[in-house]
Amino acid sequence: MANIVLTGFMGAGKSSVGRELSRLLGMKLIDADEEIERSQNMAISEIFRLFGEERFREIETEMLRKLAKEDRVIISTGGGAVLREENMEALRKNGTVFCLVASAETVYARTKQSDNRPLLKVDDPMSRIRELLSARMPFYEKAGTMIDTEQKTPQQVAEEIARVFRCGT
Ligand code: S3P
Repeated sequence: MANIVLTGFMGAGKSSVGRELSRLLGMKLIDADEEIERSQNMAISEIFRLFGEERFREIETEMLRKLAKEDRVIISTGGGAVLREENMEALRKNGTVFCLVASAETVYARTKQSDNRPLLKVDDPMSRIRELLSARMPFYEKAGTMIDTEQKTPQQVAEEIARVFRCGT
């Protein structure tokens, strides 16, 4: 299994854990959202505002299909990537998928300053986080190995993933 794929809700720590993993294993980190922003020359929030979520999901699927062809890289996906089974199927072909898990409170604390998370730009972000988390939980559970991130540093989480990854390769 050549790639490591990180999934999980917004604020679960995919980016910071991805950076640690990249350092630990000497593998390149590719952030799918950053690749989308580069390819569209636009921030994620602008894509949502101008074209809507459905179009964003199409662009995301195209990008993930392309990234899935990489080898020996870490792919950090956006929190909604798990919603389309075709995304996960493509990523699984050459990758081990991990799902980072955090509580609604932790997600809120980690995302409240963010300007680039259009789905949480609502009057009551905490309720939105709870709603989305519970609706998406079945998708996250199906995606791959669940890794609890509560009370752990990104380095600890990265070490845990590296152990599992090394065992399977
Ligand atoms: C989304 C998560 C975001 C980004 C977009 C949609 C989601 O990525 O892809 O705003 O549906 O959960 P992060 O999980 O990196 O914040």
